[in-house]
Amino acid sequence: MGEVSYQFTDDTVVVTGGSSGIGRAIALAFGEAGATVINADVRVDPKLDARPTHEQIRDSGGTARHVETDVRDPDELLALAELAADHGGLDVFVNNAGVFEEVPFLEADEATLDAHYGVNVKGVYFGCQAAARTMSDRGGAIVNVASISSRVAQGGLVHYEASKGAVEMITRGAAFELAERGIRVNAVAPGVVPTELYDGYSEKYQTEAERAELVKPIPMARPGTPDEVADATLFLASDAASYTTGTLLFVDGGWTVL
Ligand SMILES: NC(=O)c1ccc[n+]([C@@H]2O[C@H](COP(=O)([O-])OP(=O)(O)OC[C@H]3O[C@@H](n4cnc5c(N)ncnc54)[C@H](O)[C@@H]3O)[C@@H](O)[C@H]2O)c1
Repeated sequence: MGEVSYQFTDDTVVVTGGSSGIGRAIALAFGEAGATVINADVRVDPKLDARPTHEQIRDSGGTARHVETDVRDPDELLALAELAADHGGLDVFVNNAGVFEEVPFLEADEATLDAHYGVNVKGVYFGCQAAARTMSDRGGAIVNVASISSRVAQGGLVHYEASKGAVEMITRGAAFELAERGIRVNAVAPGVVPTELYDGYSEKYQTEAERAELVKPIPMARPGTPDEVADATLFLASDAASYTTGTLLFVDGGWTVL
């Protein structure tokens, strides 16, 4: 977390895909801010030299648990949201789980599209729905993890870009329908953030010249960090964003200014 901190004491927060990368940083930040955190991921292992997310939050004195969840299954998402509600009411639901593979458009097949839509679109759509069906009359906040790919084409990513474009419209459409229930729905849109998902992509960028090429479209001339995305997520989930709904907050070093 940066210098600004938000308090989520007594709040129950679900983060999907919180075992790794951006989701892990988001889950840890909510834990630090006093929330009860439920990490919903297909796996526990962070595949790093690090403790699993829920254990790390507990080690720091917080409250957290892992619930094995496949976000491609709407029933699992509803069961997850109901379980979270049993912890004193569901307050925040972060749809972060996502998959990413670079495949040239002419080589992509139905399986490529299904794999990306299953997690990135269905997971977010039914995650929003499960959260909204379960949140109490006091409302709540949903934050989806979109991408610069919601708006920008980069090559080899049509399937991913289409899925992240859908995340933007799920965010806006759900914000519209859920406003009357006191539920705000927003999205963060990261640019390049080194994580496990991004690792395969970054294999192309080994030399100094290649790395310079990678940051060329970024006015701030550097990749972002998972913590910087977490900061934006906590802002959107907090009362500081009480009049903000249906927005996409870019955390991209200025990539999308042009
Ligand atoms: N890293 C970047 O540069 C970047 C940029 C823009 C957007 N994003 C988005 O940020 C989000 C997180 O990405 P990351 O870079 O931290 O990736 P990551 O691979 O490090 O983490 C993704 C997590 O999602 C989990 N997951 C995958 N499929 C799942 C499923 N079916 N059900 C439940 N969990 C599942 C994985 O187990 C993993 O823990 C994704 O939505 C991604 O599209 C990442």
